[in-house]
Amino acid sequence: MKNKTESNKPWGGRFTEATASSAEAFSASIHFDMRLYRHDIAGSKAHAKMLAKVGLISGSELEQILAGLTEIEAEIESNTFVFRPELEDIHMNIEKVLVEKVGQAGEKLHTARSRNDQVTLDMRLYLREESQHIIGLLSDLQKGFVQLAREYLGLIMPGYTHMQRAQPVLLSHHMLAYFEMFNRDKERLSDCLKRINVLPLGSGALAGTSLPIDRDFVARELGFPKVSANSMDAVSDRDFIVEFLAACGLIQIHLSRLSEELVLWTSQEFSFAAIADRYCTGSSIMPQKKNPDMPELIRGKSGRVVGNLITVLTVLKGLPMTYNRDLQEDKEPVFDTVDTVSQSLTVMSELLSGLSFNRETLKHATETGFMTATDLAEYLVLKNIPFRQAHGIVGKAVAFCIKNSKELTDLTLKELQGFSDVIAEDVFGVLGAEGSVNSRNTSGGTAIAQVTKALERAETDLGIR
Ligand code: ARG
Repeated sequence: MKNKTESNKPWGGRFTEATASSAEAFSASIHFDMRLYRHDIAGSKAHAKMLAKVGLISGSELEQILAGLTEIEAEIESNTFVFRPELEDIHMNIEKVLVEKVGQAGEKLHTARSRNDQVTLDMRLYLREESQHIIGLLSDLQKGFVQLAREYLGLIMPGYTHMQRAQPVLLSHHMLAYFEMFNRDKERLSDCLKRINVLPLGSGALAGTSLPIDRDFVARELGFPKVSANSMDAVSDRDFIVEFLAACGLIQIHLSRLSEELVLWTSQEFSFAAIADRYCTGSSIMPQKKNPDMPELIRGKSGRVVGNLITVLTVLKGLPMTYNRDLQEDKEPVFDTVDTVSQSLTVMSELLSGLSFNRETLKHATETGFMTATDLAEYLVLKNIPFRQAHGIVGKAVAFCIKNSKELTDLTLKELQGFSDVIAEDVFGVLGAEGSVNSRNTSGGTAIAQVTKALERAETDLGIR
């Protein structure tokens, strides 16, 4: 077909020679944008119905177009459709085969439409679906934390700052911290959905169309609550993609922080938790090894997910209005982020359901490290000692303990009174981990009463209560 005097492209009318094969290979996107076939077909069907409604095509032409598109969808799904790289992208691959199937009716489908408004429509339909899917996966993950919080309710562990033992907390409080983190991720995606959920079709190449189209009809057909307000903005806007990639970037960062904790907790040094064997791998040389590769990979994959956000931001930087072919570079980062984040969330949820905590080690860990020193200072405050003085007094007591290899709980009343004479028998109520945890009974605190309420709220939120 290729020769020196004509182009065989759908847009080839004004061309006098065929595209160079290097240029063809370089610009083709079909090997990745074929993923948009369902959305492209749904968009085309809605567009065709509108064309029939306003009289730009006949009822019988509409029938042929719809039947042809349905046939194409089935062929793609059964892997019998032949994608042709010389037809560049998913839009022209489908349109070309439609014309081959139904002839002139198919040639009318692209009336009042450009690939510029078509491609952004497809991405919006695709991301609408994927955002909802990821929100669902986030809920599944949250259920994992809530189930662990319920199972271990009452178990105390060290809480850390600077990776040093700080104050005792309930393990359930720690689990519910992740519930909150991933809740914000769901909110972010839901918010981003408002910007995704806008119909760009009807913007044409950049300036709209002279043909009598009905955009509101198409919006209703495709379930868009809004139509874009400016045709130039509509074909060049990829902000919704940046927002989606940013929201996913933060999800992966959250997963990475969690992964780091899992790697630490399952180390021999901590021995706080164990991951089920089915989510671990061994070493090819060291027979004793059981490695936390899933959290490590999730942590490692945050690089590509953050990178994808930077890629698209960089593609957009300095782009003049309106559509530029640079924008084709938005797709691979989006697809990679969708795949990576979805898989990471799925694996992490499964891993949580096979995670077990070592009650003995956790209990023991709360008995050392002077983690109730703040409680002792607050005890002195209640006895009318200014906090700064109380801090100094307890600091001295801690130094004494370090010097004599003791814990605060080992000190006798007499020894304690040596640091301050306001200390009385009731001090022992605050020196133990349990009293310490339960004294922090302010809203958002780690006392069992607060955590129980938070857990119930989370269960209600997730519909598992
Ligand atoms: N494959 C293109 C993309 O992803 C579709 C739009 C092409 N439009 C154009 N005028 N060449 O952006």
